[in-house]
Amino acid sequence: MTSPTKPRAYLCRRFTDSVEAAMRTRYALHVNEQDSILSPQEIVHTAQGAQVLFASATEQINKEVLRRLSPTLRYVATLSVGYDHIDLAEAQALGIGVLHTPDVLSDACAEIAMMLMLNACRRGYEADRLVRSGDWTGWSPTQLLGTGLKGKRAVIFGMGRIGREIATRAQAFGMEIHYHNRRPLPPAQAANAIYHANLDDALRLADVLVIAVPGSPQLKGVINAERIALMPPQAVLVNISRGELVDDEALIGALSAGRLFAAGLDVFANEPHVDPRYRKLDNVFLSPHIGSATKETRDAMGWLLINGLDALFQGGTPNNLLHPPHPAHTRETAQ
Ligand code: DGY
Repeated sequence: MTSPTKPRAYLCRRFTDSVEAAMRTRYALHVNEQDSILSPQEIVHTAQGAQVLFASATEQINKEVLRRLSPTLRYVATLSVGYDHIDLAEAQALGIGVLHTPDVLSDACAEIAMMLMLNACRRGYEADRLVRSGDWTGWSPTQLLGTGLKGKRAVIFGMGRIGREIATRAQAFGMEIHYHNRRPLPPAQAANAIYHANLDDALRLADVLVIAVPGSPQLKGVINAERIALMPPQAVLVNISRGELVDDEALIGALSAGRLFAAGLDVFANEPHVDPRYRKLDNVFLSPHIGSATKETRDAMGWLLINGLDALFQGGTPNNLLHPPHPAHTRETAQ
């Protein structure tokens, strides 16, 4: 039974139990029980009347969604650090506040970057398959020779919070860290990583390229055939950002031809539809967009949204608000 005093909220995907329980104490919560990926049309239909829309990177919160929900919608809270799936300009124009989940997932995402890097370099997919298949005939001096990390150059494209956590871990493996950002980091944050103002210059050094830059339409296809050709022969590519940043045709070509040694991919263009050619390549380690998928992290992400909304409903401005909401939108209170 819903309480009229609680703001109405719609939850597009199932969050962790403890987070959902906390949401129910604050909101009249309507839930997509099937946990299916809703189309924009379905969101418009099912979230009608909501003041808060809890979403994730699987939902396209486009102009149409925002406009159709705007008579009541005050906040979109996305369980993701990325917000390329939300039309921020439209949200701003409509006075709808958008919250996301930075910081709390940086360690988890960096761990997955290292998982991909290690599995790509040390042939994790082939190794696992060999043991499971029962075809392993025993240790051999030349079996499944990979490429080591120590002494290699890691180029981190996007040295934000996640990128810096990856750098720390890669340094612990003995790698030399280079990075490309729009601007260099202050020395304390750069921690001896070498800055390159030009992406192409950085790529020329990339024994391992880690793509950790926030996804955006402007970066679609930024890692294309020309840029892959700049990387040293037998380099490794790791992507934990968004699949759209990489030109699949170019990457698959380079992996098939042996121009690149391997790739580790956690993200794909057009998820969950993965280019079928990746499945056939032995030198690709694949994971299904699990960068932030630990229990602790998903709880922390959920709580960041809940606490941020609590602050907003009490007239505050949380750090995870992407732009200030319209003043009229702060008048109601939630606990
Ligand atoms: C993020 O937080 O942006 C992750 O990619 C999950 O969507």
